[in-house]
Amino acid sequence: MQIKNNVSLKSYNTFGIDVNAKFLCEVSSINDLKKALLLENYPSKFIISGGSNMLLTKEIDALVIHINLKGITIISEDKDYVTLKVMAGENWHDMIIWTLNQGYGGLENMSLIPGNSGTAPIQNIGAYGVELKDNFISCEAMNIANQTLKVFSKQECNFGYRDSYFKNEGKGKFIITSITLRLTKNNHNINTSYGSIQEELDKKGIENPTPKNVSDAVIAIRESKLPNPKILGNSGSFFKNPVLTKPAFDAFIEANENAPFYKISENEYKVPAGWLIEQCGYKGKRFNDAGVHKKQALVLVNYGNATGQEILNLAHSIINDVNKKFEIEITPEVNIIK
Ligand code: EPU
Repeated sequence: MQIKNNVSLKSYNTFGIDVNAKFLCEVSSINDLKKALLLENYPSKFIISGGSNMLLTKEIDALVIHINLKGITIISEDKDYVTLKVMAGENWHDMIIWTLNQGYGGLENMSLIPGNSGTAPIQNIGAYGVELKDNFISCEAMNIANQTLKVFSKQECNFGYRDSYFKNEGKGKFIITSITLRLTKNNHNINTSYGSIQEELDKKGIENPTPKNVSDAVIAIRESKLPNPKILGNSGSFFKNPVLTKPAFDAFIEANENAPFYKISENEYKVPAGWLIEQCGYKGKRFNDAGVHKKQALVLVNYGNATGQEILNLAHSIINDVNKKFEIEITPEVNIIK
């Protein structure tokens, strides 16, 4: 296992923020990961995987361990279902395309979400009406303190909206090494109810969509709205959609009759942060190389040489302005590394 000094992390984070890691090593086996965690000359360690949900704001004065664990294995299957173990370093979207090529369904609505498979459980990634938890069986994670592996059941992961055990009690304690998913081989649960998926399918005259058709529709929608991190640095939605209680929602909707919203339960309403940010005039705005995406105000972008601090300053002014205008506190979804 080679340890490199002063490595730029620009290609390791989808925001494309150019800060250095004091030291960096790649781990491609569970054994390497154990060894890296035990290196005594590097007391401080920092884990990076797909780098798709983080904003780096300064040099990382630590040993950065890049998770490069690869492999997809069929654990079991019968005529209707297949159970797969996916190693943490497998690119999420490439893994979905592989499953679709095998004829497996379940992940299609989450096509094109950037990042690696091992980080998917941390924030229970989701898109177009489906979340990771809908196909999730368990994950395996290494306890950083004693380098042992532990299996977390779905229940132990305690998934919520962009939330899990690993963002709360388990934060900083575990490194997810693999995930186990159950997918359909027949009778797929096709979900076309969210947003414009149905419209996309209608455009192509598809009446009984396969998982692959749904994936193609999702890819077309995402490509039309969300910036490709390989072309324009970003971390997807920078903020979470705020959830309002009924009294707060009633007051909000009375003052903003045209606002879009989703009812979650009798007492909970989700309001799209992208709409709130757009109303504050930020959509498409650019401050040096830090900006708000032209087509989706929830996404902050790096036009090339923005610093993490510049992106963070922009995020703070958005939070303040949304709060002033709507009395709603929006919070970052992205992990901010200070
Ligand atoms: N909207 C605006 N202006 C904007 C953006 C959105 O008015 O600039 C309005 C839209 O018109 C629509 C509503 O807000 O009425 C919702 O927009 P959209 O369907 O684009 O979804 P979202 O709530 O903004 C969430 C996820 C996305 C996911 C989409 C589709 C969060 C934080 N974001 O965005 O996830 O792709 O739904 O399921 O929940 C991500 O997490 O990185 C991400 C991209």
